[in-house]
Amino acid sequence: MGHHILLLGAPGAGKGTQSGNLAEKYGIDHVTTGDALRANKNMETEHGTPREYMEAGDLVPDPVVNEIVKTALEDADGYVLDGYPRNLSQAEYLDSITNLDTVAYLDVDEEALLQRLTGRRVCDECGENYHVKFQPPEAEGVCDSCGGQLLQREDDSEVVARDRLGVFEENTEPVIKHYREEGELVEIDGEASPEEVFERIVSVVE
Ligand code: AP5
Repeated sequence: MGHHILLLGAPGAGKGTQSGNLAEKYGIDHVTTGDALRANKNMETEHGTPREYMEAGDLVPDPVVNEIVKTALEDADGYVLDGYPRNLSQAEYLDSITNLDTVAYLDVDEEALLQRLTGRRVCDECGENYHVKFQPPEAEGVCDSCGGQLLQREDDSEVVARDRLGVFEENTEPVIKHYREEGELVEIDGEASPEEVFERIVSVVE
């Protein structure tokens, strides 16, 4: 059976960057509610569309994300979960549908988070991530992998990024506390190069 890894961290902590690497190294699925919701932004639900919540940096209602995660985990033989759970009720739901082998928290200071979020650029074609300062593409605005156009995510403006950090503090920090109290949480200093952070996570998983 493949590893069951949960990667926790604030917006911009590097969850997406590191989850992609972990999924590749261990041959497991990368399950990310953020990407799933972005791909289904205009889906009509009884709670409205994900778009209205995401553009404001708010959490999309639990029933919508719980369903996404349940389906994705059922189909996976090993996974790294990124962006979920984001509140205690999602954490309880997750506990009821799966068992976790590793719960890792990437710890990054707030100013560094803001710099990472506002400088992030994402390829419009293939979804590859860059940073204008920390991981610049060879040619400005152009994806190294596929030549696609690099864009800023709508919720990476400074105003919305600050709101997302506030939502994290209020809703997701209790989740981190929950796993810490259960003795399951491994805290990793996320302020190093992506390669160094990856090595730190791998040593925890193994
Ligand atoms: P989501 O897409 O999950 O966003 P997030 O949690 O805010 O996380 P990010 O993607 O911003 O950050 P990341 O930690 O993945 O960082 P990355 O690796 O890209 O969610 C978006 C929205 O969807 C939410 O606001 C909400 O509305 C909704 N949603 C999602 N899940 C939900 C849920 N469960 N419940 C309810 N609503 C939900 O790195 C960031 C940047 O830093 C990049 O540019 C990267 O190049 C750079 N970088 C990465 N690592 C390093 C490093 N070590 N050093 C320097 N730079 C680095």
